[in-house]
Amino acid sequence: MGVMSGDRYSQLVNAPVVSTVAKQLGLPQPVELDRYRAGAPVISGPVLSGAAPGGRISKAVASLLDEIRAERAGAEGPAKALVFDASGIADSTELVELQRFFYPAVRRLQRSGRVVVLGTPPAEAGSARAHTAQRALEGFVRSLGKEIGGRGCTAQLVLVSPGAEDQLASTLRFLLSPRSAYVSGQVVRIGAGVAPIPEIEWERPLAGKTALVTGASRGIGAAIARTLARDGAEVVALDVPEAADELRRVVEEIGGADPIGLDITAADAPERIAARFADGVDVVVHNAGVTKDRTIAKMPEERWTQLLEINLSSEERINDALIDAGLLAANGRIVCVSSMSGIAGNSGQTNYAASKAGVIGMVEALAPELAGRSATINAVAPGFIETKMTAAMPLGPREAGRRLSSLSQGGLPVDVAETIAWFASPASTGVNGNVVRVCGQNLLGA
Ligand SMILES: NC(=O)c1ccc[n+]([C@@H]2O[C@H](COP(=O)([O-])OP(=O)(O)OC[C@H]3O[C@@H](n4cnc5c(N)ncnc54)[C@H](O)[C@@H]3O)[C@@H](O)[C@H]2O)c1
Repeated sequence: MGVMSGDRYSQLVNAPVVSTVAKQLGLPQPVELDRYRAGAPVISGPVLSGAAPGGRISKAVASLLDEIRAERAGAEGPAKALVFDASGIADSTELVELQRFFYPAVRRLQRSGRVVVLGTPPAEAGSARAHTAQRALEGFVRSLGKEIGGRGCTAQLVLVSPGAEDQLASTLRFLLSPRSAYVSGQVVRIGAGVAPIPEIEWERPLAGKTALVTGASRGIGAAIARTLARDGAEVVALDVPEAADELRRVVEEIGGADPIGLDITAADAPERIAARFADGVDVVVHNAGVTKDRTIAKMPEERWTQLLEINLSSEERINDALIDAGLLAANGRIVCVSSMSGIAGNSGQTNYAASKAGVIGMVEALAPELAGRSATINAVAPGFIETKMTAAMPLGPREAGRRLSSLSQGGLPVDVAETIAWFASPASTGVNGNVVRVCGQNLLGA
């Protein structure tokens, strides 16, 4: 079993030996996070919204809140979310608007509550003063995430390019809902859409779409396959031939298409994948990945190369094969799985971190090219996620990995999968070139 259910997770973190170790280390005890249940509303509780004078995003926020029938918070009482349009702040002296809104509001925030601050990408803010003030929002939001994380609350900054206000819906829905349970302290950039936003059924946004998920037999990949299938996609699950039985079980559970038993590093892998998707593919999720930890002083070349081949080079070749043959559908999606180690670095992981930082480079490099082809590429960077990979860690580092985050706990595979589903949504046409950590605002490299 690569995937741990919420129940098993809470049994585990509350198990006597683990919680004793956590207490000895002086680590805080985690609260149970709200997670999405099928059919639940986007947000279950009142939303308090505000804006600095001159904001340009409040109108889009208000229409989204109407669309999801969100309850509005009154002058007093609890709030499940605080949404603040800071796009009007054009000078550092106006940053006090943040204090004016959040000082009375933050204490009203309920458990597993949400904070979303909206701003303008600093370079697009129009003047040096406005650039400075908009850049300041990042420090504010990251600190607020650390102040409220103990209650299971999250805080994000969404930077919306001028003119891209109509691209906000899929992102705001995700960040307000329990689907983003383990995402905090992130900066998301929204730009002009790469394609027209289609009409979608929000409960099944991927209906009629085909999605390839690599490494889908267990762990995070199996959760991605389940989540994309729940969202209506026909999932084509891929894993190494040795994982055929596990892969088949996942496919039967989700009613997926015929799976692909294939080592993605095989010389003919790009060709075989392209042949399978001769009619095109809507969503490609590069999830397959391995760790082969060793300090660089003890790293044989073979060990280095095997890992780089699996985690990075094969993904480049598969992308090229699909893109060059025009097989990535219009409004298509590539979603990659990077890692916190690729951002922060980690002793004993020079090969892994190089591969995962390379994945970020691939996203940066391909985003403009894919935009020209009406498609997007983004990446998630998971922190500590409860899988076989992390269960195999020694107790001390494992506990530290879980607890040294604003939410004081590890995440679940489904948390990564929900973030990927947001990128994959046909409505996320303005979300391109983003790397979003799913790490509970882990302190490493934050
Ligand atoms: N678990 C975490 O905390 C964590 C944190 C950061 C990033 N990640 C990344 O998330 C992804 C999934 O991780 P996981 O924890 O579920 O790991 P996992 O080991 O449980 O699953 C990885 C899957 O990839 C498959 N795979 C490996 N090599 C392959 C190849 N050559 N061809 C095809 N399939 C191959 C494996 O068979 C396996 O099913 C990886 O890219 C990993 O680096 C995980």
